[in-house]
Amino acid sequence: MDRIITRVLPADDESIRLGGEMIARGELVGFPTETVYGLGGNALSDRAVRDIFAAKGRPADNPLIVHVAKMEEADSLCFPTDLAKELMRAFWPGPLTLLMKKKPCVPDVTTASLDTVAVRCPMHPAALGLISAAGVPIAAPSGNLSGRPSPTRAAHMLEDMDGRIPLILDGGDCRVGVESTVLSVTGDEPVIFRPGGITREDIARVAGKCAVADSVMRPLKEGESAPSPGMKHRHYAPKGNMTVVEGADAEKVIRKLKELYDASKNACILCHTAHLKEFGARRVMDLGDSAEKTAHVLFAALREMDDEHISRILCEGWSENGVGLAVMNRMARAAAFDIVRV
Ligand code: TXA
Ligand code: MG
Repeated sequence: MDRIITRVLPADDESIRLGGEMIARGELVGFPTETVYGLGGNALSDRAVRDIFAAKGRPADNPLIVHVAKMEEADSLCFPTDLAKELMRAFWPGPLTLLMKKKPCVPDVTTASLDTVAVRCPMHPAALGLISAAGVPIAAPSGNLSGRPSPTRAAHMLEDMDGRIPLILDGGDCRVGVESTVLSVTGDEPVIFRPGGITREDIARVAGKCAVADSVMRPLKEGESAPSPGMKHRHYAPKGNMTVVEGADAEKVIRKLKELYDASKNACILCHTAHLKEFGARRVMDLGDSAEKTAHVLFAALREMDDEHISRILCEGWSENGVGLAVMNRMARAAAFDIVRV
């Protein structure tokens, strides 16, 4: 790839207008959403989409999410079922991506030749402004290099994309901090392929029921095909060796974290705020006092582990309820499914 100069501009009206013009011209722009930063390009342009894959180093068989500014814009891309429309009305704009049968105008490169397209309407004024200014739907994966934690700040995105894209719009810290929920709504029962900011409980309240693909919390078996291509790719991998410890009894969790810490060199414990004082002189980092707070800080914490060259990362988990399921899914993948349940 040719190196180019990457500008970072505060996401104000002027830079959003500029970003929209650039996307309309076929260029790529980094932008904030309520979940994580995205690497955006014209979803209907083969060339722009190929450039996105190249800038991220992303395997071509992993499809992109197409971002729209209004519910009605989804109709030009796909065939939403009644259930899909009901979910859009309930959760858009917001961190919910819907997989629906695609229309022919969506290029095969965008969907990795699948017959479904992933569509989402983000709840962030800069993202919505950028889509409107571009006048086209925006394909955007998370703005990290493939395999790195998703960026939740403009500085993270610059770390990964400096020299690869011309512009990043800086909208500060992302509120949710983990990516959107990816939900298949082509059949009668919605199925979560990737848990995120909109929870299974939220969806079941509207749809009456909601399944979770079982590969969400376990590795794929040899030869098993992934319902969503993202499941089979390595993800969120910090450089250090990571283990997640989870259990209802906090004392047991703390004891296990200490034991693992004391058996390793150059380790760091990432734990709930309430447990920070339990580890004496050991190196600790605060993951907040709820699954929501942990979602907000997790990817930044994993990047910090790399920056500090931590070789052993010991992470306290959450139960898999509500946003806890998304947090545990990301932790499990970062730890290559090394989860100790005590
Ligand atoms: O919050 C988010 O969703 C962020 C922001 C930027 O919107 N985007 C994001 O995109 O996380 P990405 O590309 O990092 O993750 C998209 C996930 C991947 O796991 C991909 O495999 C899955 O969605 N996906 C996309 N299209 C799909 C399809 N047609 N069928 C099944 N899975 C699909
Ligand atoms: Mg991603």
